[in-house]
Amino acid sequence: MAFSPGDAVFGVGKGTLAEYACARESALCSKPDGVTFEEAASAPVAAVTALQGLRDQGGIHAGQSLLINGAAGGVGTFAVQIAKIYAAQVTAVCSTKNVELLRSIGADRVIDYTQQDFTRLGEKYDLIFDLVLNHSLLEFRRALKPHGKYVSAGALGGSIPGFLTGFFRGPLLSKFVTQRFVTFIAKIKATDLAYLGELMTSGRVRPVIENRYPLSDGRRGIELVAARHVRGKVLINVVPGSQD
Ligand SMILES: NC(=O)c1ccc[n+]([C@@H]2O[C@H](COP(=O)([O-])OP(=O)(O)OC[C@H]3O[C@@H](n4cnc5c(N)ncnc54)[C@H](OP(=O)(O)O)[C@@H]3O)[C@@H](O)[C@H]2O)c1
Repeated sequence: MAFSPGDAVFGVGKGTLAEYACARESALCSKPDGVTFEEAASAPVAAVTALQGLRDQGGIHAGQSLLINGAAGGVGTFAVQIAKIYAAQVTAVCSTKNVELLRSIGADRVIDYTQQDFTRLGEKYDLIFDLVLNHSLLEFRRALKPHGKYVSAGALGGSIPGFLTGFFRGPLLSKFVTQRFVTFIAKIKATDLAYLGELMTSGRVRPVIENRYPLSDGRRGIELVAARHVRGKVLINVVPGSQD
């Protein structure tokens, strides 16, 4: 057993909006002392998805040009910061109100999607990390270099048809063009949680938290997330005063 009663841990379990929850040991990791419970709670699933999307699916490396579509949300704000650790050149796509936020967390360039459509600017990237799926795969292809890669975590709003479009059509399209199209589902691994814990301890990754609510007001937090324009993460404090 990796843990003892009373250990502080973070990770993923079922029904975790509660004082007591069950989780697999392999989906948990010790919470580093220098990381608050709020910071730790914000990382899985979003930061793991960002890490696995960029590192494992995207093969991110130094100097690569990367565009993150949906960069202001939970996954996106972690993705911008993780991509800078890999020394990629990051272009982030968001609406007007989030432009400054994305610059402040390290984006080299920000495209305001209310002003410009990045698929029509004539610019091409080595890697596109898509968290919205608001364009067709052929439109994304226009913004990819000849051997570029498109990695999608799914359609905003959790649209199953949107997810399946990428999941099945991407590999099919990849057979006929020089670019690669991948849709993936993140797997929670203790090793990745531990790495993210180190990044948060050192301050190289700082979770962006739009707001926090007590459990009694948790509905407002859920409604904010469901509206799909949250900045970073929304937290619900189950036990009052447990944020540190
Ligand atoms: N595959 C997996 O394992 C996995 C894991 C986690 C999440 N996901 C999926 O990944 C996606 C992102 O998750 P998330 O938690 O980051 O979502 P989220 O936090 O709800 O994302 C909200 C963000 O989306 C941005 N957005 C909305 N419309 C946009 C548009 N047209 N263009 C660009 N950005 C836009 C918003 O920015 P503005 O307010 O600036 O518009 C907002 O900051 C979702 O589809 C989710 O289901 C997949």
